[in-house]
Amino acid sequence: RILILDFGSQYSQLIARRVREAGVYSEMYAYDISEEDIRNFNPKGIILSGGPESVHIEGSPRAPQVVFELGVPVLGICYGFQTMSEQLGGKVEAGVVHEFGYAKIDITHQDKLLHGIADENNQSQVWMSHGDKVARLPEGFVSTSSTPSCPFASASDENRKLYGVQFHPEVTHTAKGVELIANFVHKICGCGSEWNSDNIIEMRIAQLKQQIGDNKVLLGLSGGVDSSVVAALLHRAIGDQLTCVFVDNGLLRLNEGDQVMQMFGENMGIRVIRADAEERFLGALAGVTDPEAKRKIIGREFIEVFSEEARKLDGVKFLAQGTIYPDVIESAASKQGKAHVIKSHHNVGGLPDDLAFELVEPLRDLFKDEVRKLGVALGIPAHMIYRHPFPGPGLGVRILGEVKKEYADILRVADDIFMQELRASGWYDKTAQAFAVFQPVKSVGVVGDGRRYAWVIALRAVETVDFMTARFAHLPYELVDKISTRIMNEIRDVSRVVYDVSSKPPATIEWE
Ligand code: XMP
Repeated sequence: RILILDFGSQYSQLIARRVREAGVYSEMYAYDISEEDIRNFNPKGIILSGGPESVHIEGSPRAPQVVFELGVPVLGICYGFQTMSEQLGGKVEAGVVHEFGYAKIDITHQDKLLHGIADENNQSQVWMSHGDKVARLPEGFVSTSSTPSCPFASASDENRKLYGVQFHPEVTHTAKGVELIANFVHKICGCGSEWNSDNIIEMRIAQLKQQIGDNKVLLGLSGGVDSSVVAALLHRAIGDQLTCVFVDNGLLRLNEGDQVMQMFGENMGIRVIRADAEERFLGALAGVTDPEAKRKIIGREFIEVFSEEARKLDGVKFLAQGTIYPDVIESAASKQGKAHVIKSHHNVGGLPDDLAFELVEPLRDLFKDEVRKLGVALGIPAHMIYRHPFPGPGLGVRILGEVKKEYADILRVADDIFMQELRASGWYDKTAQAFAVFQPVKSVGVVGDGRRYAWVIALRAVETVDFMTARFAHLPYELVDKISTRIMNEIRDVSRVVYDVSSKPPATIEWE
């Protein structure tokens, strides 16, 4: 296993993902983890991430000295390279020129890290993003590559197994970044390639059996990727000791409730209790127009309905949850009080005191792409695993203002037409999220000789990687034309369709 110490770079999580993609388990911790924790982790190699600071600033972060004393290979990336150099007796120069973007490195010395990286001109394309740079290497180091503005684009002391790169091998803009990271973990640290879906499933099942014994487990199944994978995994591990509760809040997509029951209940043979709570949710939402108030009501009703179902069950000891690694990662950026994304878990959380379960979180150390691969390996259909995200409050925040069943029914059909056409045209996979939004305003239309006065549907489709920023998808006009024609022809109560051309920021992805 590889230990990654995070100095707060926006790319830190990518390092952990790339290492795992190379088949090696890795975990990321803030740089100031204790010496004891580092020793207990027993890493076969350590990677120091980049970070926003300058080593010249007083109190700027340093790697715990033990990192260089354990005798395991260390790779410093960007800031990690700079602090390693400084700590081992080299010198870092404050940047006059900030280098940001693509660069070509000239490979001057082929060490194990740069094996197979060079092209026919002995160069390689990398992604640079730094102000400071290493000006003098610590004793024992040799320079292995350079750029015109950076004499030590990479360097190493192969006797001590210490390596440093000024560029970012973890981002895809670095042409041979994957190879470089694989060189580090395989050739230098000597790790095998054991981290893959089949092995993860096998290990997880053994761990789950041990943790759970012959006790009973309850899971809130939403039909989303994480809870679906937890359900499939637990079912493999403990079979009928698992009971799932699926709360149908009446704010799901077309036929979604039936599909969840069909897939998990009938096809996979999992015990799923469906709590039909449409009336209850819609009743609680009646007359409420404020988006945050609607979210709170939906969250509260969910807990109540789920708790009622849980109380009907006997002898449940464990509650399973689909928490994933990005939700728990201890990041230097968040420690320093910088913006930290917290996923709002609409599912289980804050259950009443009389329902005191022990937690089972089998995805707690997995990234989303690992969870997806696991899901496919467990036999969940790919179209479910690679579905766009769907918010916990569901159509509740896609019907603007007051939520009514009439609106939800219209919206479900419109959204389904939109999805059908996106899939048929190949655009579903080119967009990160797409959906229809119900506008509670009426607009005039004309059908044959008659006048129609009916609702407006907005189409929203975005391209994004992180959901923090997003660009509206530039769908072809012919496709938009086809979708809008179908929606207006097939749904009597819709007289107009509009396409949302707002990007985030300043707009958000959802309309509420
Ligand atoms: P916004 O609208 O904030 O959405 O740009 C960013 C991402 O978050 C999802 N989202 C939610 N997910 N509960 C959720 O589980 C919520 O209340 C919620 N609000 C927004 C949204 O669908 C998008 O993927």
